Amino acid sequence: MIILGIESSCDETAAAVYSERGLLSNIIASQLEHEKFGGVVPELASRAHELIISTTVKAALDEAAIEKEAIDAIAVTRGPGLVGALLVGLCFAKGLSLQLGKPVIGINHVDAHIYANFIEQNPEFPFVSLVVSGGHTRLSYIEGPFRHRLLGETRDDASGEAFDKIGKLLGLPYPAGPRLDALATNGNPDVYKLPQGLLHEGFDFSFSGLKTSVLYHLRDIPEDRREAYISENLEDLCAGISHAITEVLIRKLEKAVLQTGVKTIVLAGGVSANSMLRGKARVLAEKRDLSLYIPRPVFCTDNAAMIAVTGYLKAGSGLYDDLHMKPFARMPKASPVTG
Ligand code: KG4
Ligand code: ZN
Repeated sequence: MIILGIESSCDETAAAVYSERGLLSNIIASQLEHEKFGGVVPELASRAHELIISTTVKAALDEAAIEKEAIDAIAVTRGPGLVGALLVGLCFAKGLSLQLGKPVIGINHVDAHIYANFIEQNPEFPFVSLVVSGGHTRLSYIEGPFRHRLLGETRDDASGEAFDKIGKLLGLPYPAGPRLDALATNGNPDVYKLPQGLLHEGFDFSFSGLKTSVLYHLRDIPEDRREAYISENLEDLCAGISHAITEVLIRKLEKAVLQTGVKTIVLAGGVSANSMLRGKARVLAEKRDLSLYIPRPVFCTDNAAMIAVTGYLKAGSGLYDDLHMKPFARMPKASPVTG
């Protein structure tokens, strides 16, 4: 079984090939034109996907050293994401499906982040997953393949969005998450006591209070001294912010483990590349005697290998789609992957 995966939900055009031999190729073309706007511009994203999708897919087939006729199915991201961007990947996949006479498999991007852990490893079910990305923060109980139960999600900003928006307040370029992470490693997380939203309430998350708190703190510093203050305290500020975000994530993950009784935890999404979060997850796993799975950083952020591997697992369960499938912008209440 050879699966071609295509991802175009945001600002990465990506294609990958996965088979029983494992990952055969993984091509990611990042769109850099959004940086000067401080965020992703949907119209620019769609146009850039359209320009490079054919060469990205061709590069994935070449790297895998296969002809397109060898593909058994085409897995493609349906959502959540920017609909104009998703349409480029979906239309390309449908055209290829018609040409080759091979089926399509619609993939939920957020769920695919979880299954990124199956690219190089094999987590045992059931487990608790924490998806932390630019668009989502979701804690779920995963009973078995594509049988998910949502425990909690963010009520406002996603954790990656919090890193990016707060980093922007500190003058860091978009996306601020990776840079803020690097700066935090040299800072002291105890200098700034920042709010840990909804720490003691259920499984939902909230990061907007943290953003407001940093905003107000900086606003109280006279404007002519603000830039110097930020640069003098940047590492400690980044450490305090990273600590506030990751502490809530880890405490709720621990609570979910205790409530469900699972012995395995799985982290996923762009923010799971964060070094402080990875470190705290390792400490939690040790403390509670858990098996911990986190993808390698290249499979944490958006990629098509996670789309291809999810397609491979869905194909194994006979979960195919037809050419009428539509994109979706938001995470459905019951995701199409989970049924
Ligand atoms: O999963 P992803 O590539 O795209 C979405 O599906 O949203 O996640 C991107 C997010 C961005 O907000 C980025 O700043 C964040 O992941 N991110 C990080 C790190 N690497 C990526 N945040 C904190 N620390 C990192 N090392
Ligand atoms: Zn993503």
